[in-house]
Amino acid sequence: MRQPRAILITGASSGIGRALALAYAAPGVRLSLIGRNEARLAEIAAAAAAQGALVSTGQVDVRDRDAMRAWIAAADAALPFDLAIANAGITSGLADAALTEDPEAVRALLATNLFGVLNTVEPLIQPMCGRGLGQIAIIGSLAGLRGLPFSPAYSASKAAVHAYAESLRGRLERRGLIVSLVVAGFVKTPLNDSIDAVKPFEVSDVEAARIIKAGLARGRAVIAFPAALYAATWLARILPPRFVDRLFTRFLVNVPETKERVNA
Ligand SMILES: NC(=O)c1ccc[n+]([C@@H]2O[C@H](COP(=O)([O-])OP(=O)(O)OC[C@H]3O[C@@H](n4cnc5c(N)ncnc54)[C@H](OP(=O)(O)O)[C@@H]3O)[C@@H](O)[C@H]2O)c1
Repeated sequence: MRQPRAILITGASSGIGRALALAYAAPGVRLSLIGRNEARLAEIAAAAAAQGALVSTGQVDVRDRDAMRAWIAAADAALPFDLAIANAGITSGLADAALTEDPEAVRALLATNLFGVLNTVEPLIQPMCGRGLGQIAIIGSLAGLRGLPFSPAYSASKAAVHAYAESLRGRLERRGLIVSLVVAGFVKTPLNDSIDAVKPFEVSDVEAARIIKAGLARGRAVIAFPAALYAATWLARILPPRFVDRLFTRFLVNVPETKERVNA
């Protein structure tokens, strides 16, 4: 089992990222935690430090490419990262009876869920390849396996990071890196609480962090959970598409539109 010592986690101020920070926090571990909310970041930093970790926090917007590059490069130069988890993300969906999402909401979502992942990973590829060592984890979603009619842009953003993770894996593993894609089902977090739907096999953020940490320690290419929902989503991919479309429209799902905007 690999025990990473210098870990970057984006979106560490809440939900899965917060739980991951606490799961890794231990003496001899340096955690570099990125988020925007100063108070929540400070709270998680104090909790992780109480468990013995050395913690630094960055109040950085993952959409800000220059700020991300500068912060990550400085932290990596101080103590090289051996694990980076691109976790920060938001959700958004279609309002009742709406045919399309607000284009501004869509741009904000892609800026976070897609470009935020690129802004996290890109600064580390050269240094990690130079060292021939390192692990990159990208948090995807079951929604990335099959487009959901309630949240088109979210599904698209996750499908994009799935493809990105797979492509990186094929390219970078020959250079000594490990690339892991996390395909998560429902995890009880503030993001998930905002969604009004039946959430089969929902797990806690602590359980999700336990599963992700165990999968990363084994160097798994894909860490997908829960297994039953993962299998059902694969089935949805191979069944006739219009049959699955009709099935989905029977579900009552309300995903509120994000209030995030690119220039907010
Ligand atoms: N919960 C689920 O059911 C579920 C299922 C599948 C996949 N996921 C994925 O898991 C990841 C974490 O989600 P979560 O459920 O833990 O949500 P969450 O509790 O809402 O946490 C999201 C985190 O992302 C950060 N974040 C959002 N926009 C950011 C930005 N522009 N710059 C920096 N940080 C930003 C937030 O930080 P601030 O609040 O400080 O801005 C927060 O720490 C997301 O990628 C999500 O798509 C979640």
